[in-house]
Amino acid sequence: MMLRVCVIAVSILATALALDNGLALTPPMGWLAWERYRCIVDCVAYPDDCISEQLFRRTADLLVSEGYADVGYEYVIIDDCWLALERDSDGRLQPDPQRFPSGIKALADYVHSRGLKFGIYEDFGTYTCAGYPGVVGHMQTDAQTFADWEVDYVKLDGCWSKPEDMDTGYPLFGQYLNQTGRPMVYSCSWPVYQEFAGIEPDFESLKENCNLWRNYVDIDDSWEEVEIIMDYFAERQDRIADHAGPGHWNDPDMLIIGNYGLSYDQSKVQMAIWAILAAPLLISTELRDIKPEYKAILQNKDILAVNQDALGIQGHRINSSAGIEIWTRPISPLLGDKYSYAVAFVSHRIDGYPYLISVNLAEIGLTSAQGYNFQDLYDPESPPEILKPDSILSIRVNPSGVVFYRATIITAL
Ligand SMILES: *[C@@H]1O[C@H](CO)[C@@H](O)[C@H](O)[C@H]1NC(C)=O
Ligand SMILES: *[C@@H]1O[C@H](CO)[C@@H](O)[C@H](O)[C@H]1NC(C)=O
Repeated sequence: MMLRVCVIAVSILATALALDNGLALTPPMGWLAWERYRCIVDCVAYPDDCISEQLFRRTADLLVSEGYADVGYEYVIIDDCWLALERDSDGRLQPDPQRFPSGIKALADYVHSRGLKFGIYEDFGTYTCAGYPGVVGHMQTDAQTFADWEVDYVKLDGCWSKPEDMDTGYPLFGQYLNQTGRPMVYSCSWPVYQEFAGIEPDFESLKENCNLWRNYVDIDDSWEEVEIIMDYFAERQDRIADHAGPGHWNDPDMLIIGNYGLSYDQSKVQMAIWAILAAPLLISTELRDIKPEYKAILQNKDILAVNQDALGIQGHRINSSAGIEIWTRPISPLLGDKYSYAVAFVSHRIDGYPYLISVNLAEIGLTSAQGYNFQDLYDPESPPEILKPDSILSIRVNPSGVVFYRATIITAL
């Protein structure tokens, strides 16, 4: 009898570690409509920009034809404003008939036919943030509707609901998703609503129930927003960072690279820090218009490899001094108990010249005696350098820019 109790306790403990749907073992990559396209529903004034099946079909095509799919961007995700204002006569969700005349199943089929995966948005509340029907009172039906439509990814927002109800409500919707038998990535917005209400989110429960979760504000199109989000994750890293891992990620929100707000250097910073943070990489830009140098940032394979590192360890900001920050992330391969690292030097300075920084490797945690092979990830043509723990690395960082290295541990003598 005792033994049986123990076995059950152990198995509960094991399943309590993380959501076991086999998905998002590395941070999800794809395209999400919100930051760039918001809730544009006027297809007469904005025929190319409105939230419509045409926008998502076009984006699926571009993800493939422009090489994004080849480097790992796979989810095409609708955000708010796809719904009709009323459910159908059977109480099921239905899309806006003018903007999605073929229906969501046909759109999912189209996305799948391009070799991609399809994501959708709903809200744990009476309404979505923009005022369309929410899932409350219809959770089982809506989860089944998504499965019937062959959805692969569900973002569940938290407007028009009580933050204190989310501890039970979000897991319940997740159970309904699970009961459909269709694996769907589950993106939760519950921590951000609780943090703003002064409630400390239960990260253990988040890991058990969600594949990713939004910790903080919606990103807007500016460098200030990127800085605010970086500060949020750095200042709370002792409480937040260790909850990330294969199948369960902190989400600092979309990539705004390719839009109006970031310079070329600032775009490199966002990409580097999102890789350090093991963040989901959800592009929100017009892929038709993006300039080649911004596209190259989004498709930088070495940086994507840092983001997708199989260990799934989220990095930290390890120093911030005089407007210069140093961020590191442990990555593979290992030598004994010592890691390789991604290392980012970020400048928030505005005095207009590349600022010189010199650091001793051991002081930033790189202590393997045989040293590290340093490769500048934004200058892949530059020859790699071998540096030892007592080496001094001297570099110059552009104003609101970054220098980003992979420091691969040397494993053979
Ligand atoms: C449902 O949950 C069980 C138990 O965690 C898991 O083994 C299974 O893969 C899940 N199924 C889906 C479709 O998510
Ligand atoms: C951060 O860097 C500055 C400048 O190099 C140095 O003086 C300081 O000791 C560092 N602080 C920490 C906590 O490592």
